Formats: sequence, structure tokens, C-alpha cells
Amino acid sequence: MGLIPQHFIQDLLNRVDIVDLIDSRVPLKKAGANYKACCPFHGEKTPSFNVSQSKQFYHCFGCGANGNAISFLMEYDRLEFPDAVEELASSLGLEVPREVGNDNRPKIDNSLYDLMTKIANFYQQQLRTPSGQKAVNYLKNRGLSGEIAKQFGLGFVPDAWDSLEKLFGSFAQNPKLKQQLIDCGMLIQKEGDAARVYDRFRDRIMFPIKDKRGRVIAFGGRVMGDGEPKYLNSPETPIFHKSNELYGLYQARQANRNLARILIVEGYMDVVALAQFGITNAVATLGTATTASHLQQLFRTSRELVLCFDGDKAGRKAALKALEHGLPQLREGRDIKLMFLPDGEDPDSMVRKVGKEQFTKLIEQSEPIFDFLLKHLSAQVDLKTVSGRGQLVHLAKPYLDKITDPIYHQLFSQALAETSGIAPDKLDSLVSQSSANSQSPVQTVSNPQQMARTKAVSQKKVNKSIQLAITLLLQEPQLGLTIDGYDWLLSLNQTGPKILHKLLEIIHQNPNLTSGALLEFWRQDKLYPRLAEMAMIEREARIKGQEAQELNDCMAKLLTEARNSRLDFLQQKASNKSLTSAEKAEFQQLLLLAKGQK
Ligand code: UTP
Ligand code: MN
Repeated sequence: MGLIPQHFIQDLLNRVDIVDLIDSRVPLKKAGANYKACCPFHGEKTPSFNVSQSKQFYHCFGCGANGNAISFLMEYDRLEFPDAVEELASSLGLEVPREVGNDNRPKIDNSLYDLMTKIANFYQQQLRTPSGQKAVNYLKNRGLSGEIAKQFGLGFVPDAWDSLEKLFGSFAQNPKLKQQLIDCGMLIQKEGDAARVYDRFRDRIMFPIKDKRGRVIAFGGRVMGDGEPKYLNSPETPIFHKSNELYGLYQARQANRNLARILIVEGYMDVVALAQFGITNAVATLGTATTASHLQQLFRTSRELVLCFDGDKAGRKAALKALEHGLPQLREGRDIKLMFLPDGEDPDSMVRKVGKEQFTKLIEQSEPIFDFLLKHLSAQVDLKTVSGRGQLVHLAKPYLDKITDPIYHQLFSQALAETSGIAPDKLDSLVSQSSANSQSPVQTVSNPQQMARTKAVSQKKVNKSIQLAITLLLQEPQLGLTIDGYDWLLSLNQTGPKILHKLLEIIHQNPNLTSGALLEFWRQDKLYPRLAEMAMIEREARIKGQEAQELNDCMAKLLTEARNSRLDFLQQKASNKSLTSAEKAEFQQLLLLAKGQK
């Protein structure tokens, strides 16, 4: 099937009312200009789930869930994007059109899920055959109960190249099935003879990997002896994207109505062993580091994430890496903590050693993210010296930059100021100075430090203007119609102005857009979460009726900046005597304009 045309999606979002849609599933109460309810995506007693009719957008201030009507159906009814669109369309009695010809995405064949489920059942049955006895013994030896093995659907694949053909019948009769099994990573084509295939998984304990909805999408297979690799995993397939999936998330959600906290561990066995001991909120990444997308998903389900690592150096390194993804996602009502196990232990061995109660205590004693970060960075410098304390600030800067939430930013700045003994206000200029230095390598003025400082201040102002302009447009798209001529934004050649340009372009082409419909254009973009948040934040000092003026002021500031940076560029070129005559004229004109501004 072809892609759904963007204009149809826009049309749908234009016709449907998000308040009706949500109200039919989660009863809403009017509260001021918005509607409210207890959030359906996390457990809570006081309502922080807001729906805005004018913006056609919902947002939960507790768990951060947000989106338009399509997003709501995806999350609440657990639908894939095209299914959510189908659902909306059919509720309006519309047929979903499809574009022909230009669909490059791999098509997901729903029957792949059925195949994977059949295979998982087959592997499970194998535990009850004579050849499966050694697998049962292995699991018993590792201390797993039959009950937990059943709960996680553990199975066994015999030592054969053709178990799947035995299960499904001759592939010669059914080339389509053969291709599907290749597509979902279960069969491998023989090198040099692609017509011949063999089973990827042989003689292993099989862990089915389920998606959030409980469908089997992949497998991890463990050798029972010392063979290599210890774990063999399904490759990336149309239904399995390693960096998005978490082992055990489905089971954790099944076992807990409200998941207030999720423990992120490394291994399949860790998840299963912890569950056996009654710690049912653990999930594992699948042989990859924790990604931003993992954290994002988990924060949809839970407000507190505890990342569990080995106590050794590699564990610390992995923790830091995970923090880089975690810091930008911190905000009110979200917490990240770190837990380090003693050297040589993993959660599986640890929980068996100390038991549920003691292990739960360890979880509760896990380290808040900022404590760990400060401790880790401080250990690299000599805090007794002034230069050591200065170094600490520089080391902390990249992390500080990643914290987008203003309150958390403030908190970490304060902690940093206390540790370094550098007053918070000084810290700010120190920090922005070092960022300006890294951004403007070309210095043409006699006092580079002075120059860096003014640049930093002006860059800060520019960033503020960009942010405000984007926020205004996201919140009230029609304001954009008052702006004419904005192509010069592209000359600023940064992300912010580019987004601003795209926003203005879309708004001018679709003059009746709501915030929710506008955001739809960024659904696939990694910036989406940030933009969605900007669409909902309460802006300070908001004066009704002044928004158009505010936007105009921002644009004027940016235009000045665009001219100045062009001026810098031409000045540089002039000093090399390499201006063309057109550039010379432009240079003169810009100089005049710049004088006029002062
Ligand atoms: P570990 O080597 O720490 O194993 O790998 P483990 O989880 O403790 O497993 P047991 O207790 O020996 O059975 C941690 C995770 O890294 C991935 C798997 O997801 C594993 O659970 N991994 C490890 C692989 O994908 N392939 C490997 O060969 C090894
Ligand atoms: Mn282990």
C-alpha cells in the first residue's frame, strides 16, 4: 500500500475534534479554556491531563504524554500510525487515499507477527520433548521455576538446520512463506546458493521478544554451554528495531497496573530472574546501549527510571553514555537514578544472593542522576585548587547544556556552584563564554575575550528570539500570516531558523492549521518531542493581544542578526580583498543599515 498523502492527514485533523474523540474514551471535564482528566497513560489521582480545543492537542503535565488526535489513538488504542489514520477516517466516513509509486518504506506484512507467534509456541513445546530435556535441565540449573519460564514463554530450539521446515512443511511448496521467514530473520539463505535456506537458531534456549502490545517480534537465543556467541539475537527486520525495543516491557506492564518505577538492566536472564523473585518492573535493552528512544518510551509508562549497571569501569562508562540521552528528557515529574552493583555481580546473581527485600533496598538507595554526575566529574579534578574547580565547570558544561528543563537546569547549576565554589551568576557567564569560544573560531577584533563575551550575549539573545518565535507559532499558527518575507532566515544556517522557516512556510500554505495539525509535520522528526512541549508550555508574561507584536520583535531581532553575520562574512572577505562588485555594493548597504540601528 502507498503512503497516505499529507494533505489527507491535514484534512482529517481539520475535521475531527480532539475533545470529542478523547471524551468518548476518557471523560473530560471543562477547566478554564481547556479540558482535563486523570491521565490515561500513567496512574494519578489528581488530573494533569489537559486537552486544548483551540490547539487540537493534548498534554499531560505528569508524564509528558502529548500529541494530536492521531497520536492519541496510537497511544490509547495502541495502533500503528496508518491504523490510527484509518480509524479516524472511518469515524468520519472517509476513505483513506494512498499515493502510488513513491513508497520507499519497507512494507510490514501483518502475517509476520502470526508466524513469529507460531514459532514461539513451537519452541515452547520443544521443552516437553526428549531432546528438550537438556534445556529444561539448563533452566533448572540456573534456578528458574517452570512457572516463570512459562510466563516469559521460554523455549528450546533443537540442534537441527531445518526445524522450521519441519514445523511449517516443505518450503518448495510455499515460496512465499519461505520469503517471510527470511524477512523476519528466522531463516538464512545459503551463501552461493540463495535458493537453499537454513535455520538461524539452532540448539539454544529461546527467549521470545515481545513488543509493547505483546506480539512476538524477535528472539534471543542462548547457548547452553560455552559456545559463541553466548546470545544470538534476531537481526533488524520490518517488525523488529533493536534500538526501540525493550525486553520484558510487555510483561512488566501486564504485571503492574501502575508502573511507578522501571528498572533498566542489561540481560534477558536478569529480567526473568528478577521477575521470579517478585521484582516485576525490570526491562532489558537488547544487547545495545540505552538509547534516547528507549528512555522516551519508558517515560511514557513510568515517572522514575533506575538504570542498573555493573560496578566496574565499563559500567560507569555505560552510565555516562545513558545520561547523555537522559538529561534532555528530564522535566517536572520525571526522574532518572543510577544503581551500581558490586564488581562481578549482575542483577540475576545479586537477587539470588541477597533476596528480594535486600535487592529492593538497593534499588531504593540508587543514586540521583545529578549526584552521580557531580561525583564522577569531581573525581577527575582537584577540587582543592582554583584551577581544579574551574576545570570542573568546564567538564560539567556539556552536560549542563543537555538539560533543557529550566528547573532541572537551575538545580544542576546550583549544585555545580556549590561544589566549585563559583557563584551561580559568575558560573553562567563562564559557561556561556566557553560556548561562544567553541562556536566562533574566527576572531578579527583586537580583544578576543571581549569579543567572545559580546558574541555570547548576542547569541543568547538570538537563541531566545528564535525560541520565542517558534513557541508563538506553534501555539498560535495564524500569527505566522502576519510575517511576510522570511527566506532570509535560511541564511542564518542553524537549526532554529530553519525550523522557523519551515513553520512559516507550512502556515502560509495552510492558513487554517491548529497547533496539533502543525506538529503533524514533525511526527517523524527527532525534534518532535521538544516542539510538542513548546506547543504546550505556559509562556511567562503573556499579554493577550500582544503576541503578533512579540513575534514581529523576534523577527526583527533575527533579521538584524542575519544582516550582522552577513556583514561579518563580507568584512572578512573584504580584508582579503576578494569582494565581487555586487558584494561590495551589498557591503556598503549593510554598513549603512548597521549604522542606522545604532
Ligand atoms: P552478559 O554477557 O552480561 O550475559 O550479556 P548475561 O545477561 O549475564 O547472561 P547470562 O546470565 O550469562 O545468561 C548481557 C546482555 O547482552 C546481550 C544480551 O542481551 C545479554 O542478555 N548479549 C550478550 C548479546 O546480545 N550477545 C552476546 O553474545 C552476549
Ligand atoms: Mn548473568
